[in-house]
Amino acid sequence: MSTNFKARAMAEHQIDDLDAQLLRRKLRSTASPCDTKARVDQRELKAFCSNDYLGLANHPELVAALAEGAKRYGVGSGASHLISGHSIAHDLLEKKLAACESKYIPNARALFFSTGYLANINAITGLSKLANQGEVSIYSAKLNHASLIDGVRLASSQTKAKVTLFDHQNLDFLEEVLQQDAHPLKLIVVDGVFSMDGDIAPVKNLLRIAEQYDALLMVDDAHGFGVLGEQGHGILEQSAVHSERIIYVGTLGKAAGVSGAFICATAPFIEWLIQKGRPYIYSTATPPAIAHTLITSLELIEGKEGITRRKQLNQLIQIWRDEMTFQHWEKTPSSTPIQPVILGSNASALAAAKLLDEAGYWIPAIRPPTVPVGSSRLRITFSANHSVDDLRELIKTLQVIEQEVKSNL
Ligand SMILES: Cc1ncc(COP(=O)(O)O)c(C=O)c1O
Repeated sequence: MSTNFKARAMAEHQIDDLDAQLLRRKLRSTASPCDTKARVDQRELKAFCSNDYLGLANHPELVAALAEGAKRYGVGSGASHLISGHSIAHDLLEKKLAACESKYIPNARALFFSTGYLANINAITGLSKLANQGEVSIYSAKLNHASLIDGVRLASSQTKAKVTLFDHQNLDFLEEVLQQDAHPLKLIVVDGVFSMDGDIAPVKNLLRIAEQYDALLMVDDAHGFGVLGEQGHGILEQSAVHSERIIYVGTLGKAAGVSGAFICATAPFIEWLIQKGRPYIYSTATPPAIAHTLITSLELIEGKEGITRRKQLNQLIQIWRDEMTFQHWEKTPSSTPIQPVILGSNASALAAAKLLDEAGYWIPAIRPPTVPVGSSRLRITFSANHSVDDLRELIKTLQVIEQEVKSNL
């Protein structure tokens, strides 16, 4: 037996290093369902940090649908989709998801995944294989989510795709580079709603550019599906776009309140991803009971209840934008339920999160590498289950905490 266990010493050293840089993340376990109040460490905290934007994660109709789905289909799928794990519940869900985006994507077909992370990896690596090695260009927005970044990295190592980063708020550079690009396959990849800033991608302009330079446009609408658009169909509905070039990814563990994700695109792209998407092919299908639950979630999102919940959410967003003012900290120009407050240093963000915790709030500090160095922040998110009074109390608390952090650091 070796006495010199180097890997363990390395792990301990690396963790100490994270601690020293104030970059160590901590797990907290909740003892309550996801909602605006969370039971954590034997205390009840007011939570403004989940992505359960419509407040559906503990909705009685979804809880009942999951129980009913488990009775009907059992709890496990037993295999990957292409072996024997694909159930009629998956099939029905995929048809409903395709119908959600069919006004914006002609001949739309949808493919369901267990997570958005996997859907993104599958879409980017799978689509990159449409062309020969070395004949693919990927244009990726600089502030894209980690799952898109990882998908791009993997595609680049698998297919030698040429990767170019661009600023989604200034598309001139993207156009300039595309003008020079002779590769037969070009893929533009962008977050629909940027997860750490809350701003919305200029999808109409991006689509114009994609059409002009014969590119595909992949939009990860993880934070827009359920939230944006009259019917909650997301950024494509809100932007009123229509094109076969759009590859849409929506996630189902955020506004939809359950879990999973989907890729929606014109049918041949989806058929190709079923044939060649390794995460799809080599992973066990999500339990059909989850797919069954999601069908009820889609009905809630599209129906009267979804409309009422989006109205409440938009009222909260408007109040925040009108009434929340800071002297030192910075808000971002976000019109979505993601409303970050930028503090800058890790120390300030951690101090603010701690004071918020002491005041009974759960709003964790978000630090690099999730956000760029020097832009550590409080990522505040709203749920339709928050009341206007909840929000006004938070605004007052934040104003006091800003002064406390400033005078202590
Ligand atoms: C923009 C974005 N895309 C994808 C994901 C991954 O989705 P999932 O949590 O379903 O894996 C997330 C968040 O988790 C996200 O914020």
